[in-house]
Amino acid sequence: MLGRLGRRALFSLDPETAHGLSIAALKTGLPLCGRVAPDERLKISLCGLDFPNPLGMAAGYDKNAEVPDALLGLGFGFAEVGTVTPLPQPGNPKPRIFRLTRDEAVINRLGFNNEGHERCLERLLIRRGRQGIVGVNIGANKDSPDRMADYEEGVRRFASVASYLTVNISSPNTPGLRAMQLRENLAELLARVTAARAERASDGGRTVPLFLKIAPDLGGAELADIAAEVEDKGVDGVIVSNTTLSRDGLRSAFAGEAGGLSGKPLFARSTAVLARMRKLLGREKAIIGVGGVRSTETALEKIRAGADLVQLYTGMIYCGPTLPGRIVTGMTRFAEAEGLSSIRDIRDARLAYWAGQHID
Ligand SMILES: Cc1cc2nc3c(=O)[nH]c(=O)nc-3n(C[C@H](O)[C@H](O)[C@H](O)COP(=O)(O)O)c2cc1C
Repeated sequence: MLGRLGRRALFSLDPETAHGLSIAALKTGLPLCGRVAPDERLKISLCGLDFPNPLGMAAGYDKNAEVPDALLGLGFGFAEVGTVTPLPQPGNPKPRIFRLTRDEAVINRLGFNNEGHERCLERLLIRRGRQGIVGVNIGANKDSPDRMADYEEGVRRFASVASYLTVNISSPNTPGLRAMQLRENLAELLARVTAARAERASDGGRTVPLFLKIAPDLGGAELADIAAEVEDKGVDGVIVSNTTLSRDGLRSAFAGEAGGLSGKPLFARSTAVLARMRKLLGREKAIIGVGGVRSTETALEKIRAGADLVQLYTGMIYCGPTLPGRIVTGMTRFAEAEGLSSIRDIRDARLAYWAGQHID
């Protein structure tokens, strides 16, 4: 009831104002939902990190690391902050977020609006030493003369405060950024960021786990190139996926807006790409599945398609702040009902089905 009232109030505001209000609500520290009981069967050890459960907040919600601990308090097993760029930048002109209510989707063309490395680092330094897995998603400034150098700087800056780092080259809203996914560019970028990581580790720091976040609009040959470079450069895993440029089957008035589409219509496409990536990378590499997760069942299906961990963003816009707790509690019930000792036991159970799904 409260959730429905909250949603009605927030949906009467423009999406960016509503987003700001939700961050402000989290900042108050008031409990927005009940505590989620921890469960041994949901724990995932991956890349040297111990996740209390497999569900995380995706990048883009907390771009400036203002509320990572409050997000963990909603029941998420981890939170990814960013995308953060070296210099602050305003992003694209407003309006730049659109709710496609009939489709349970969002189109955004924010363009990496954020307060920059320094501000984000200050906040993360304050929370240093606290429990909870907080990843940092790094990007490049729109007007940077050397975008690869921006990623190197991100690695150097955040290696010691981030639980893991995500190299985000899949936003459709920074012109030319997605070209970094092409083999030659990617080879150079990954060589440079892994070198920056090794440099920080040799200064006495740890080797921070490094993920690559990719688009869902890549063909088979492009995915194979990415998998080969991830293997070759020793990247720890892949996040599949960012928003899509596809507009298949939408009914909402805003369907024609430019930007990246997220939410329910992204589920099948991103899950199929996730399964393909799992087949290419083999059993050992880490994969985080994201795109259209909005229930326990959709979260479990990402794991069945090959994901070790799952993230969501748009689902919370439509279902409210109790969604992560409900999904995690649902996972515990599922493990109980199926007699699983670990939720990981269902990984890859529907890999063949999802890898065979047609997407154009
Ligand atoms: C408003 C908005 C802003 C986003 N900003 C970022 C971002 O800064 N960096 C990033 O890697 N992904 C960003 N994303 C993409 C999400 O992290 C996620 O990959 C995508 O939305 C698919 O998941 P979902 O369907 O659960 O939303 C953003 C998504 C939305 C809706």
